[in-house]
Amino acid sequence: MEELQQILDQALQQFSAISDEAELEQVKARYLGKDGSLTGLLKGLGKLSAEERPAAGARINQVKQSIESALQQRRDALQQNKLSKKLAAESLDVTLPGRGMGTGGLHPVTRTLERIEQLFHSLGFATATGPEIERDFYNFTALNIPENHPARAMHDTFYIDHQHVLRTHTSPVQVRYMENHKPPLKIISSGRVYRVDSDATHSPMFHQVEGLWVDEEISFANLKGVVQDFLQRFFERDDLKVRFRPSFFPFTEPSAEMDMSWNGGWLEIGGCGMVHPNVLKHVNIDSEKYLGFAFGLGVERLAMLRYGVNDLRQFYESDLRFLKQFN
Ligand code: DAH
Repeated sequence: MEELQQILDQALQQFSAISDEAELEQVKARYLGKDGSLTGLLKGLGKLSAEERPAAGARINQVKQSIESALQQRRDALQQNKLSKKLAAESLDVTLPGRGMGTGGLHPVTRTLERIEQLFHSLGFATATGPEIERDFYNFTALNIPENHPARAMHDTFYIDHQHVLRTHTSPVQVRYMENHKPPLKIISSGRVYRVDSDATHSPMFHQVEGLWVDEEISFANLKGVVQDFLQRFFERDDLKVRFRPSFFPFTEPSAEMDMSWNGGWLEIGGCGMVHPNVLKHVNIDSEKYLGFAFGLGVERLAMLRYGVNDLRQFYESDLRFLKQFN
């Protein structure tokens, strides 16, 4: 009887010290397993006299039950413990404020492009597009800039291979459009262009808008009227003036650089001219019958002036503090 009490005390003490489920099952075997101490005692019952046996058997069974129920309690406690730990680790504070949904906005250059297109559409210009990886032929040759001609040096070109370049201007779209459409033609084409150049006012990638109007009676006067009307509406300034300075582009004759009045001075905003007969010849348009003007505008320049941005690179640094101001 004394031994039984000792076994029980020891078992209860051991169980309560265990914090691992597998270990608990191992320790259980020491008491209730095939070679366990309690099992041993049960086996020894046969050695007792017939009078002693029933009481001893009952007592052993009582202890066995106590051990079993202590075991079960410990198991439950360990499992409960495990569950609480897991819940604590995965806990979620649903009262915390949410992350919120920020609203995005259009990039200032995109906004400028959309504004430019909208204004030219209202003047009756349609939209044309061309590839950014352009054939050398369209970027240069068909624009009256033959191979090995010094005018190619005016463009710091990114070459892809012998026949392809990253287009250095949007002018090749003129050629592509005239190849597939008969006059009268009245289009603008905007998009990315590329040049090997990078500083506060030059980016290796920038945007241009090209304009082209070909018809039987198109003159320099139409060109100036269209450009001035566009700029006045773009900047919302009726008093804005446009000035042409003589210049040279292989694909126009005569050619001019366009300036606009700004803060008491003049600012260059693009190039223009009357489409060169050689360019029309390339696309089988009769230059005796048709005349056309063309122009190219720098989009970033217009965006910088409209929004008061003084470093072109800011457009391409993806700094949200800068971009958010345009939302
Ligand atoms: N393509 C010229 C450039 O990138 C700009 C230009 C000049 C376009 C005269 C024209 C033009 O259409 O007629 O510098």
